[in-house]
Amino acid sequence: MDYEVFLVSRVHEEWQRRGDASAAVREGLGHTGRVISAAALVMVAVFGAFALSGNRTLELFGVLMATAVFLDAFVIRMVLLPAVLELLGPPYLGVPAWPRPAPAPARDRTTRRRARDSGAEARPRRSDVTMANHLLHIDSSIQGDRSVSRRLTARAAGVWLAAHPGGTVTYRDLGADPLPHLDSDGGLARMVAPAEHTPAQAASWALTTRLIDEVRRANPILLGLPVYNFGAPSTVKAWVDHLVAPGLSVDPATKEGLLGGRDLIVLAARGGGYAPGTPREGWDHAEQWLPHGVSITGLTPRFITAELTLADVTPEMAAFKPLAAESLRAAETAIDALWETDAVAA
Ligand SMILES: Cc1cc2nc3c(=O)[nH]c(=O)nc-3n(C[C@H](O)[C@H](O)[C@H](O)COP(=O)(O)O)c2cc1C
Repeated sequence: MDYEVFLVSRVHEEWQRRGDASAAVREGLGHTGRVISAAALVMVAVFGAFALSGNRTLELFGVLMATAVFLDAFVIRMVLLPAVLELLGPPYLGVPAWPRPAPAPARDRTTRRRARDSGAEARPRRSDVTMANHLLHIDSSIQGDRSVSRRLTARAAGVWLAAHPGGTVTYRDLGADPLPHLDSDGGLARMVAPAEHTPAQAASWALTTRLIDEVRRANPILLGLPVYNFGAPSTVKAWVDHLVAPGLSVDPATKEGLLGGRDLIVLAARGGGYAPGTPREGWDHAEQWLPHGVSITGLTPRFITAELTLADVTPEMAAFKPLAAESLRAAETAIDALWETDAVAA
């Protein structure tokens, strides 16, 4: 039975990584095969040895146990379990991850007051869409602990949790676990009726459905958005490409976006400065693109941005360190003010 738990966990991990049920079953079996077979053979040998004990009861016990382990490890594991998983498919394998609490908030009364006084961007009216007290927290930076956008999303998640006791969080890390880009199967899955999908199209559609469900269940959504090579990380582009799906996020008849009414808060970080009048004004194509990219779904992002983040680590930008520090401080202040009215009401 332990084999089965081990195997199913591995299959589920693969499913989460790939979004392809058949491949997840195949890879899960492949990766666990040696360990389980070796362990089973050892147990068969040990129980088999009881058959030589000369004691009738022990002999019977040994033969029965050796047969049971053999059947469990080689017939149930290699034939029955994969067949059942394959038949049940994505709905079974795609059981959503347990909600993960976000890190504790870094805020105190002083920061709250400063936020109020700063006149930071006002939060839009509370959505009239009925959603659970649930946050979707997405990171995409490739810079690990040095990441500024991760620092900002973590702070925002902490502030939200403090203002929403009992709130739950789904976390997705596009930087550590990139989604597959839309390939021809994913593209065709959007043009062919789901009932007529090939297995590959169905797998891509299942992943799209899962990603859109994550958004549907949440309000607000926090997205960490770094600027890499003057644009958004390709992982964020892949996420947006999956989000745009006729029938799921867009009404095919009216073209109305079906994900509206949620607060999509983007915590952006960029190494340079792109303010009006600077030499590279307009070169930040991440912040310019995202509202257009998601517009058809009804989502309308609002941005809190820290810029000149490279000033601290780039000697030629040393003169911009004060501006960078000010930009980061302003972003943090705006984050601390995001759910102030909710906290007061709670
Ligand atoms: C691969 C890579 C490419 C980058 N390209 C740009 C760029 O084109 N423009 C810019 O302003 N900063 C650029 N940067 C700097 C990042 O925007 C900056 O480090 C920012 O803080 C990224 O967010 P993060 O810290 O959350 O990863 C780049 C950084 C990396 C690692």
